[in-house]
Amino acid sequence: MVNFEQIKGFVFDLDGVIADTSIYHSKAWRQLAEELGVTWTTELSNNLKGVSRMDSLNLILKAGGKESAYTEEEKEHYATEKNTNYLNLLKDMDASAILPGINDFIEDLKRHDYKLSLASASKNSPLVLEQLGLAKYFEKRVDPATLKHGKPDPEIFARGAEILGLKPEECVGIEDATAGIKSINGASELSIGIGDPKILNEADINFTDTSKLTLENIKQALK
Ligand code: BG6
Ligand code: MG
Repeated sequence: MVNFEQIKGFVFDLDGVIADTSIYHSKAWRQLAEELGVTWTTELSNNLKGVSRMDSLNLILKAGGKESAYTEEEKEHYATEKNTNYLNLLKDMDASAILPGINDFIEDLKRHDYKLSLASASKNSPLVLEQLGLAKYFEKRVDPATLKHGKPDPEIFARGAEILGLKPEECVGIEDATAGIKSINGASELSIGIGDPKILNEADINFTDTSKLTLENIKQALK
């Protein structure tokens, strides 16, 4: 595994790592799934985490055995409907949605001159970062619209390191989703999973929640 001393940059997921927006994504998808007659389960909810908007809709339709029920145009319509509902849920969101310890962790990283980038699948991430007051820390962002493949493909985390001018083995990726951990591992970066270690069992290091995400804890975990 990587030495703590060789780490130069951190590549962050957004939803469920920096802010608790993943609950709003889930809520909006659940509403659409139920409208389409697809049973909502915890497993489906977990599988959607980190996955792009259209890939998420396709997973929902597949779970309900409806993968060929709609035209591309109808699917675009439903994806837009989900996004409108999601943005409505976000309307009043502010810095209070930042997850515990994240502000301190980011401040600490800046103090120690680590580089930071964002590898979020969300096309709403610039807006979310603005509302959270964190945009200034994440000037380097992978634009998900430019990707050939979404998570779990390594492309997004590989790009997260590239835009920092760093090698993958100099970077740590932080994720709350199984698809995201697979992407980090595939990009040969050190993976930190935030959440249930049974679900994120492929992560190199696991913290049950963001309050445990500190440089000291990462250093200890690598010893
Ligand atoms: C990821 C979320 O960050 O972004 C997913 O975990 C979401 O739940 C995906 O579907 C795409 O987001 P958006 O905002 O572009 O629809
Ligand atoms: Mg996430």
